[in-house]
Amino acid sequence: MRYSKRVEWCDTSDIGDILKALSDPEILSLAGGLPAPELFPIDDIKLATALVLDREGRRALQYSSAYGDPRLREIVAKRMTEKYRTPAKAEEVLITNGSQQALDMAGKVFLDEGSVVLCESPTYLGALGAFKTYGARFVGVETDKDGMVIEDLERKLKEIEDVRMVYVNPDFQNPTGIDWSVDRRKAFAEVVGRYGVPPWRTTPTGSFVSTGPALPQ
Ligand SMILES: Cc1ncc(COP(=O)(O)O)c(C=O)c1O
Repeated sequence: MRYSKRVEWCDTSDIGDILKALSDPEILSLAGGLPAPELFPIDDIKLATALVLDREGRRALQYSSAYGDPRLREIVAKRMTEKYRTPAKAEEVLITNGSQQALDMAGKVFLDEGSVVLCESPTYLGALGAFKTYGARFVGVETDKDGMVIEDLERKLKEIEDVRMVYVNPDFQNPTGIDWSVDRRKAFAEVVGRYGVPPWRTTPTGSFVSTGPALPQ
């Protein structure tokens, strides 16, 4: 039996190894960052599930757009625009099962074997795992208590060929917990925009547009 290269590239799962330790009652693991189970809103989830199934069960269980329920996409776009002051249209929203699925999709869309992903140092293990499957090479950018060091980011964008993505956690960074300063966020947006890496966004037809070179149609 032959497996794909992807299977060889991801021979272990770092997160899987961390979570495995949790099944041993002798180990109190602080590595996984799991939420406290007593805080899970079980009653609220039961109520919401029952409400949806009672009111719209047939529609909720039916196939629909792969981008997600159109009404939910409207609600997310409105919330992004009004609450987070990040103007968004429903057709720019893609509903995923958690952010891990979105990371996997980003890898699928942006990366080829050998493509470079710049990231904070240290960075989130799950993102490394998702991008590794697509053959990414990782290059860490110097990071201090305010976020990525912009001079190092710019140097690496200039010197390294085939940077396809800069992956960052500006809020509650995993694993350090830092929040980027406002000045660092602004400088970051300016630099990556200038080098045409992000911002990427989806169009209503599902193709991707960016400030960089267009994807083949
Ligand atoms: C930075 C970061 N991204 C993504 C995830 C995965 O999120 P989800 O459970 O929504 O897939 C985590 C989980 O800890 C995370 O810390």
